Amino acid sequence: MENGRANGHGANGHPTNGNGNGHGRLPRHVAVIMDGNGRWAEQRGLTRLQGHRVGKDSVRAVVESARRLGVEYLSLFAFSTENWHRPPKEVDGLMHLLRRYLASEIDKMMKHGIRLLAVGTLRRLPPAVREALRSAIAATRGNKGMTVILAVSYGGREELTRAMRAMARKVRQGKLDPDRITSDVVSQHLATKGVPDPDLLIRTSGEMRISNFFLWQVAYSELYVTETLWPDFREREFQQALAFYEQRQRRFGRTAAQVEREASLRAAGS
Ligand code: FPP
Repeated sequence: MENGRANGHGANGHPTNGNGNGHGRLPRHVAVIMDGNGRWAEQRGLTRLQGHRVGKDSVRAVVESARRLGVEYLSLFAFSTENWHRPPKEVDGLMHLLRRYLASEIDKMMKHGIRLLAVGTLRRLPPAVREALRSAIAATRGNKGMTVILAVSYGGREELTRAMRAMARKVRQGKLDPDRITSDVVSQHLATKGVPDPDLLIRTSGEMRISNFFLWQVAYSELYVTETLWPDFREREFQQALAFYEQRQRRFGRTAAQVEREASLRAAGS
């Protein structure tokens, strides 16, 4: 299948998170569902873990490429809440890879001013991985370059449920008026608080699913699904995804005529 078959958002209104400039160009925030490591390995008679290991090199390549191109935020779905159900050996292997990745990349993150954030139920992680994440996040806190958001032990429904609980608690304590719960207020209760919503969501390996990733945040994201398996997804494929994004006209529920009129007014004013 050719790249970039998918696109779809049909809801009304504008995004709530200060994101989306509405014109092609470079997306501020790219989110990636990295899928297909297992299939890539099986096709070659390798173990699934070997597929994840090569997938780690794709992570490196995409981080580097996004940084060089000037993407501000890059979110990577590294491990979902559902992934805990995989065989223990694979889970252990993925945890080990994550820890090694953090240890091996920290110098590069500092050199390039990359700030690391993590979203997910981090307390479920093995202590050594949690500690590696905590220390990388602390070390890179002041960096002003690209922000990399690792979603680990992450599930969109869990994140939303937690946000709802937090808001309900505030309502009960009289600190939040239910009538004042807007979509901005909801956004502020998510783990991605302060991060603009993704402009572009990439999924590798051809599956047309969101898989419980950033359910709230991708409301207006452009969707790019490629058949390329994650271990084969490198700089060239990333640039193809960005080229796809560049051609999209983001309407946020408006008509094409409205968007074009606004663009020409903007152009005339600039
Ligand atoms: C999906 O492939 C991928 C994962 C479950 C994990 C992603 C992990 C990496 C890319 C490696 C390490 C990550 C970092 C951040 C260093 P799959 O196993 O579901 O593939 P399949 O659908 O073909 O079985």
